[in-house]
Order: sequence, then structure tokens, then C-alpha cells
Amino acid sequence: MHAITLAPSLLAGDHANLAASARVVSDHGLSWLHLDLMDGHFVPNLTFGPETLAALRRAGSKLFFDTHLMLSEPHRYVEAFAKAGANLISIHIEPSYDHAATLARIRQLGCQNGLVLNPDTPASAIEPHLSAVDLILVMTVQPGFGGQAFRRDMLPKLRQIDAWRRERSLTFRLEVDGGVDLATGPECRAAGADTFVAGTSFFRAPDKPAFIAAVNRW
Ligand code: DX5
Ligand code: ZN
Repeated sequence: MHAITLAPSLLAGDHANLAASARVVSDHGLSWLHLDLMDGHFVPNLTFGPETLAALRRAGSKLFFDTHLMLSEPHRYVEAFAKAGANLISIHIEPSYDHAATLARIRQLGCQNGLVLNPDTPASAIEPHLSAVDLILVMTVQPGFGGQAFRRDMLPKLRQIDAWRRERSLTFRLEVDGGVDLATGPECRAAGADTFVAGTSFFRAPDKPAFIAAVNRW
């Protein structure tokens, strides 16, 4: 299946110098960057927008932009994020809009698509879409802020989605986001995750090569 992929979250980087924080990621030989977009409505926080992605591209970033839209109306913005340089665009299942059409639209725009579920949302909510996605993102914290404690009660949900993936011979990635570190990551890996968002644990790691090597052994 998919090799272990570490996606450092720019939310934990230096917001006065995001390009430098993105370079920390690429300089360590990583290829993915997780970008958290918040609208102050779906989640009680604000971050940045498509112009920030475009500026990171202009600053030379060639990282794979794993774009996590925490927006009440994501369907209104997928085109803007695709044009700005997103490679993968993930949308949440919780707000009401046409999820299937938006997932299809993301692919038409030349990006991979992802579907995200919050801790309180059961796996059954995303189950009808499994054959139409490139990635499922299981939130292991309530979205909105970095640095929160990992929700171990999300592990059965990961195992359920991984089981569906095997039973149906599907190839989507299974990503986890929130409180992932050297202690909790291996538990996610054992439950089927292959793609790991790490904000605080990556940017605060004093020895990043050692951190990355440890992740690759999960
Ligand atoms: C939270 C975001 C996460 C956040 C994770 O709403 O979706 O991507 O950056 O941060 P840590 O890894 O510190 O929990
Ligand atoms: Zn995220």
C-alpha cells in the first residue's frame, strides 16, 4: 500500500515567515506540507487563504501541498486553492453541500481529493464516498488549533476505515491529524494509517533528522 508519509503542518510554523518554515520541511528531504485553512465559522480560528499558497509557490516551494479546508462552504473555494498551487484538497463531510460533486470537481481541477471527518462523526458518514476519494483524513483532535491531545478513542474508526479499504481493494490514503507524535503515531500506524500530519511534534523536534527516521520505522 502507501509508504509512510509525514506531512508537517505549517500551522505550527512561523506565521511571519511561512516560506522559511516550508523550507525547513523540504531541506529535511520531506515532500509533503500540510496546510490548514480555517474560516472562523466551521472552526473557531482563522489562518490563511489561497494567496498564501500562491506566495509559497512564488517563493519556490515544490512541496506537495496537502490542503485541509476547515470551511463551512468549501465548494466555493476549491477552484481558488487549485489555482493557487494545491496538490490535494481535503474537504469536511460535516457541513451541508454536495460532497460528491465537490470531490469530483477537485479531480477535474487536476488535484487529488480528500474527505475529512471530525472526532464526533462516525465512519459510516464517509463510507458512501470511499470509492471516489484519494485520501480519507481522520481527525484525532477537534479541529481548529494545534497542540491538542491525541484522541485515542479514534483508533477503532481508523481500523474500520482500513478494513473497508482492504475488503473493497481500494487504494486511498488514510491520514491522521491532531496530536500525532512519536508515542501516538505508531498506534495510528498499527490501526492502518499511512499518512501522518505533525504540527507541534515536527516543528518543536530538537533533532528533526532523528524524528523523521523514527517516523519511517513506524
Ligand atoms: C488542527 C489542524 C492540524 C494541526 C495539528 O485543526 O487540522 O493540522 O496543525 O497540529 P498538532 O500536530 O500540533 O496537533
Ligand atoms: Zn489539518
